[in-house]
Order: sequence, then structure tokens, then C-alpha cells
Amino acid sequence: MAFSILSLDQAHDLKSFNCGNTALNTWLQNTSRQHQKKNISRTFVLVQDESPATILGYYALAIRGLTMTEALPQNMKKSLPLNVPTMTLARLAVSIKEQRKGYGERLLLDAMKRVKTASRLIGGGFLFVDAKDIKLAGFYARYGFVALPSDPLILVMPIEKIP
Ligand SMILES: CC(C)(COP(=O)(O)OP(=O)(O)OC[C@H]1O[C@@H](n2cnc3c(N)ncnc32)[C@H](O)[C@@H]1OP(=O)(O)O)[C@@H](O)C(=O)NCCC(=O)NCCS
Repeated sequence: MAFSILSLDQAHDLKSFNCGNTALNTWLQNTSRQHQKKNISRTFVLVQDESPATILGYYALAIRGLTMTEALPQNMKKSLPLNVPTMTLARLAVSIKEQRKGYGERLLLDAMKRVKTASRLIGGGFLFVDAKDIKLAGFYARYGFVALPSDPLILVMPIEKIP
């Protein structure tokens, strides 16, 4: 089976997507295309090449803004200006029927790679993610994200550390 991760477009079937989390389903169905059109965020979908309209999973990337260096984990603060430009993995979800097959990992690694590529053009020091709960924070930590000292559910990774 061949898979692709593609920029969201009109051909993708948003209505049938169900990851078990209403907010993530609703955002994909009602907001993702509008944000794509207005350049507020970018959504990428995982599809099987044989069935390219069916979304197996998706992620969304956006600019997070400026973050105060003071808020970063101790070992990331060195030699930085007072504020640093950051990006965010704004959404990540896999269809409930397809979870625990490695697609979440595939999407996360692709998102990280894409952020690194974007940073080569425009800069951007850190990639953030807001985990929904502490178990999910553990999921992100496995890929190198580190929690902020002030909040175990906000995790960050220096973009230069993305392989
Ligand atoms: C979280 C989510 C994206 C993971 O995707 P997935 O395709 O099921 O995950 P993978 O199969 O790639 O799993 C990769 C690893 O993470 C772990 N993992 C998966 N889901 C996890 C969860 N909810 N909590 C903690 N660890 C999890 C798995 O154990 C796996 O490790 P293993 O292979 O050693 O067992 C998916 O479960 C999902 O969409 N959940 C509902 C929406 C959601 O909560 N999104 C995250 C918002 S922060």
C-alpha cells in the first residue's frame, strides 16, 4: 500500500473523518479550508494513493508568534534574544479506525520535517505543540519535544534539532 501526505484541497472528503475527538473533527470539517484559503494555517492529510479522497489522518501547522525566551526549558535558553519566533503543530489526528498503526508517528515526523524546511526560508527557532493530556505529552516527548517548566502540556523542540 502506498501513502501520500498532501496539502488539503477540494478533493478531500472532510465529512467522513472521525478521530474520536469532536473538536478535531469539527475543526477539520468547518475551519481547515477557510484557514488554508486565508493562509492562517496549513493542513496536510495522509491518504492511501488508491483512495485519495479518504483522510486517514491530518495535521495543521501555523505560526505561533513570538515566545519569551524566559519561558523555554533551561537548556534551550542559551544565547537567544528576549523573544524568539516560533511555529506550532496546531492539530494532529488520525481516524479512529486507523489509530495505533503508526500513522500518527508518520504525520508527526512529516510535520517536523516540513517545519524545518520552512525555517530554512523564513527562520523560526522553535516548534511548539499543545498536548491534550499528559499521556499525549508523553507521545510527543518520545519524538524529542520537551515540556515547558511552567506547563507540562506545552511542549517545545528547537527546530535546529529536527533531524
Ligand atoms: C494521538 C494520535 C494522533 C496518535 O496517532 P496513532 O496513529 O494512533 O499513533 P501511532 O500508531 O503512530 O503511535 C505511535 C506511538 O505513540 C503511542 N501513542 C499513540 N496514541 C497515544 C495516546 N493517545 N497517548 C499516548 N501514547 C500514544 C503509541 O503507543 C505508539 O507507540 P508504540 O508503537 O510503541 O506502541 C491518535 O491516537 C489520535 O488521533 N487521537 C485522537 C486525537 C488526538 O488526541 N490528537 C492529539 C491532540 S494533542
